[in-house]
Amino acid sequence: MATIGILGTGRMGTRLAGAFADLGHTVILGSRHVARAREAAKALGRRNVIPGTYDAAVDAPVVLPAIFLRDGLVETLAPYAERLRGKLYVDITNPFNDDYSDFILPWGTSGAEQVQQAVPGARVVGAFKNVWWVVLDEPDFAGVPNDVFVVADDDAAKREFLSLVDGMPFRFVDAGRLANARTVERMTLLLGELGARYRVAPRMGFRFLDGAAEAGA
Ligand SMILES: NC(=O)c1ccc[n+]([C@@H]2O[C@H](COP(=O)([O-])OP(=O)(O)OC[C@H]3O[C@@H](n4cnc5c(N)ncnc54)[C@H](OP(=O)(O)O)[C@@H]3O)[C@@H](O)[C@H]2O)c1
Repeated sequence: MATIGILGTGRMGTRLAGAFADLGHTVILGSRHVARAREAAKALGRRNVIPGTYDAAVDAPVVLPAIFLRDGLVETLAPYAERLRGKLYVDITNPFNDDYSDFILPWGTSGAEQVQQAVPGARVVGAFKNVWWVVLDEPDFAGVPNDVFVVADDDAAKREFLSLVDGMPFRFVDAGRLANARTVERMTLLLGELGARYRVAPRMGFRFLDGAAEAGA
């Protein structure tokens, strides 16, 4: 079992803390305000979720910052760049603007690549980008779990991530290199628009349908 440091006690941070804890991992749930982390850990009610600071969370061998780029994720990471060297970094960012109508980054980059630039020594794996927070509460859509597209340049890091999430109620799909996060993140932007158009937001997700599965291969 691993220890995972989560930074941020918002919608994703708390739910992912619960999801990793349910698999038996220890989670250091970090907040800018320790009292908030304590409250969040108490609400989760798992003994293996330990409240703390961002500093304590960064000490874990696996880190998962659950902070928006627009709220200063890159600036928050800057003082930790050296300490994150060699660590598995799970990047879940979608670079949304304040009203979620668009991204704050141009087409030629992604949140994942911005994070990798900010912490060049970390082994960045992008994941959970298309999983809306409410779906973490109830992952099944009529018996069909959501796909989580996983991107990374470091294959060993990708494998390590996949072993950490083994048992989560999602299907994890290898979506290739880190730069593919440009597409994966923009799929979330489209998903948001589809959800609004069809009045199902925020309960929506993606499933990659493949012919081999259909043929029973
Ligand atoms: N919401 C989704 O459905 C979803 C889905 C996939 C990916 N994501 C990604 O997950 C990340 C977190 O999203 P979220 O929806 O969990 O966000 P959120 O509910 O707004 O929580 C973000 C957390 O970031 C921390 N934070 C640090 N600096 C902050 C600042 N200046 N202003 C506000 N909060 C600050 C806060 O935690 P503390 O106060 O405890 O420090 C806050 O609770 C984002 O990168 C987002 O793109 C979100």
